[in-house]
Amino acid sequence: MELELVHGLDNVLGCSPYKAVAKVQIIFSTVGGNTEIVANKVASELILKEHKISMFRVDNLDPGTILNYDLTIFLSPTYNQGTLDDHYKPFFKNWKKLDLKNHAFCAAGLGNTKYYSEYLTESTGLLEQEILNIQGLIAVPGLRIGVDPLKVLDSLVAKWCQKIDLFLIENFSK
Ligand SMILES: Cc1cc2nc3c(=O)[nH]c(=O)nc-3n(C[C@H](O)[C@H](O)[C@H](O)COP(=O)(O)O)c2cc1C
Repeated sequence: MELELVHGLDNVLGCSPYKAVAKVQIIFSTVGGNTEIVANKVASELILKEHKISMFRVDNLDPGTILNYDLTIFLSPTYNQGTLDDHYKPFFKNWKKLDLKNHAFCAAGLGNTKYYSEYLTESTGLLEQEILNIQGLIAVPGLRIGVDPLKVLDSLVAKWCQKIDLFLIENFSK
């Protein structure tokens, strides 16, 4: 399911007609809801920077949608000794047939020291490895959230979004 967030912001800020700097796709998976909270925060930070955001759960998502965006951001929790959430499996199986060389990506992984601390936030590295395997471009180094995400939304996550915004301005503003 795609959630178009940009129009809501027009209403909030009264800034229509809206002109986006870049088109950004956010893809996430979640089991307990934490990753969705971070995905929503990333979306709202980038909307404030005047980017057009579309959000998708990875479940049953066609990887071909990536081609419609300037930047794709992946978010996943880490489960079971350093693995991605299973919902990503079919997605990454199917995306190899696309030509995504040099498409821009970012990755954020969640985890918690309460579980398998030796594999803390491994999902970040796994997402980045998938990106490198298809010769994608990592626009900004991955974000690792190894604590309750609510504690770092306005610090760590907001700062990461600032870096993404800089990348988008440098590469996509007309
Ligand atoms: C069964 C289980 C296994 C987990 N395994 C790991 C792990 O290997 N590494 C890690 O950093 N976090 C691990 N975690 C912590 C989750 O990644 C963390 O709670 C995350 O915020 C969950 O995101 P979600 O609410 O979006 O599903 C595990 C949690 C559970 C319940």
